Amino acid sequence: IQGPISVKVNGQQTTLDIAPDAPLLNVLRNDLCLNGPKFGCGLGECGACTVLVDGVAARSCVIPLAGVSGRSVVTLDGLEQNGKLDPVQQAFIDEQGAQCGYCMNGMIMTLKALLLRSPHPTEQEIRSELDFNLCRCGTHVEIMRSALRAVE
Ligand code: FES
Repeated sequence: IQGPISVKVNGQQTTLDIAPDAPLLNVLRNDLCLNGPKFGCGLGECGACTVLVDGVAARSCVIPLAGVSGRSVVTLDGLEQNGKLDPVQQAFIDEQGAQCGYCMNGMIMTLKALLLRSPHPTEQEIRSELDFNLCRCGTHVEIMRSALRAVE
């Protein structure tokens, strides 16, 4: 794809005249000032950069901008509606799911994607879904407690 790329970001149609092979994560953070997604590994392995693309969890560090042309991207920054946090965000706050917080974007966005396709997941389904999101602090107990509260 050449030329400006059109993509909906957090509900707003946006046209970007940026190199089409630029990583989506860089575009979101550097060009659109959306700092919800984080840079962790840059290799698609840690999950810190997770966003929703057409409602499905995707690792934005390994997706080129051209890969989301004509599609809808939602970041952590876009989950809030009318000044109210998404229930998944609220659950992680209520249960103090974070220690350093760096992995929280990935945990929340991955769980959000799961809930969009399966509103009442089992604990095992949640564990499987979050299995590929890394947390170096090791707050997995708090993360699971937050996730279970979010699906209540
Ligand atoms: Fe994208 Fe680690 S920064 S998966």
